[in-house]
Amino acid sequence: MFGKSKNKAWKQLESIYKHFAGTQMKDMFAADPKRAEKYSEQLESMLIDYSKNLINSEVMAALFNLARERGLKEKIADMFAGKKINTTENRAVLHTALRNRADTPIYVDGRDVMPQIDAALDKIRDFSEAVRLGRFTGYTGKKLTNIVNIGIGGSDLGPFMACEALRHYWAKDINCYFISNIDGTGCAEVLNKIDPETTLFIIASKTFTTIETLTNARTCRKWLVDALGEHAVAKHFIALSTNKEEVEKFGINSDNMFAFWDFVGGRYSIWSSIGMIIAIAIGYKNFERMLDGAYAMDKHFTETEFEHNIPVILALIGVWYNNFYGIHRYCVIPYDQYLRYFPAYLQQMDMESNGKSISLDNKYVDYSTGPVLFGGAGTDVQHSFFQLLHQGTEIVPTDLIVPAISHNEIGAHHQILLANVLAQGEALMHGKTEDETIAELEAAGKSSTEINRLKKYKSFSGNRPTNTIVLRKIDPYSLGMLIAMYEHKVFVQGVIWNINSFDQFGVELGKKMALNILPELQGMNRNTQHDCSTSALISYIKKIRK
Ligand code: F6P
Repeated sequence: MFGKSKNKAWKQLESIYKHFAGTQMKDMFAADPKRAEKYSEQLESMLIDYSKNLINSEVMAALFNLARERGLKEKIADMFAGKKINTTENRAVLHTALRNRADTPIYVDGRDVMPQIDAALDKIRDFSEAVRLGRFTGYTGKKLTNIVNIGIGGSDLGPFMACEALRHYWAKDINCYFISNIDGTGCAEVLNKIDPETTLFIIASKTFTTIETLTNARTCRKWLVDALGEHAVAKHFIALSTNKEEVEKFGINSDNMFAFWDFVGGRYSIWSSIGMIIAIAIGYKNFERMLDGAYAMDKHFTETEFEHNIPVILALIGVWYNNFYGIHRYCVIPYDQYLRYFPAYLQQMDMESNGKSISLDNKYVDYSTGPVLFGGAGTDVQHSFFQLLHQGTEIVPTDLIVPAISHNEIGAHHQILLANVLAQGEALMHGKTEDETIAELEAAGKSSTEINRLKKYKSFSGNRPTNTIVLRKIDPYSLGMLIAMYEHKVFVQGVIWNINSFDQFGVELGKKMALNILPELQGMNRNTQHDCSTSALISYIKKIRK
């Protein structure tokens, strides 16, 4: 039984918050020249500086107590051991088994799942290499160089983000495309660019029942059959799914089906055959490096005491803001153009996992759970929403992610980018007092009337938290580490909040209602009851489309 009022560490944190709330980060920095060292962790070449947070040793100690009280250690062990921690769906949660690089068995229902995982990885390796080397060709014998992933949610965002993040590693003659949205524009824009003879379609769908994916897949199938005939399908379509029956119904034989299992959640499936397009684009060896990076983070997560455990620390600081400061927003800014889709990927990982209101004890929670996550690539976003981060009334804890070395070290570009990310962290923390603003305006020769008029507008409260995450370079290994770090962070928060981070029933209702509305838009007169707003919208749209 968990409720905030029942929890000792929670109460302790509430009482710490009462006297800590007004604390200024810059005072803590001034008082402790070793603060950065104290609140940083390094894993291989990845550095996490979390010193620019509203924390001190009392806060951190109480947060670690909270984690202990919540049985985090045991919960981590349960997940990695294949216990059915996804209780509402009665499933194990074993995306970590997909990157288990140790030769250790992992049991689900008494059966070691590692042999099937290894066999699936071998199949991904063989197929991706056959495509890259031109051994598996299209129907007319041409090399498949346009690879189109058709999927949505976890069957799209992960491969899409990783392909873009690792674009530097793509084979020179391969192009990757992604079709996800049901909006026909997605299909049309891709099909306009490619040649059926050189195109491989990958239908990525865990369930193989998702309406967007199947509709897009049928449209692409028709396009291909119109060009090359029915017999060409076997050479131009493969499926990544857990649902063999539906894959076969679609007309794809099991040789061209790449399996994964119900113990892999959609938003955690990048490590499975859902990563096929990544393996084709960057090569299987590089795909394996991504698994290696994730495995390094898994080892760190399972073997490191909480006080130095990166995902645990990040998660607990997030809980501190969410549940004690009452800040329910959170921002992720990669300072790297290749990582520009990372925030969108994290949005699903975090919000679909922890956007829950019912506890594992089947009760409404009496505290906040997952925050609203948003983000975008720096420095672009400095020129859009950063105004609010600096001077808005909302405090938004922010993760700044940056590689020390760019794949494109052109002139001073990367140094300017590095200077910007560091400056943002410093500015958000330090701010600018009215006195500092006055001095600056005086130095610029402004009159005292002008200074009085502008001093408030040009000052910054500061005390706005950031984590700075420095990677050596964006490569498959560091990307694997980074993704796994966030996966575990989200998991830890789910444990603290006592929710199931691994189901997603919240996406069902809208989907079902769309199926009710569709026949009405198609002109079938069904007597479905809607609210008057929805009914009026249906009529208006039908009138316009006539
Ligand atoms: O949006 C809900 C969801 O189930 C996601 O969790 C999942 O990633 C996505 O739909 C796609 O599902 P599928 O891979 O089964 O097509």
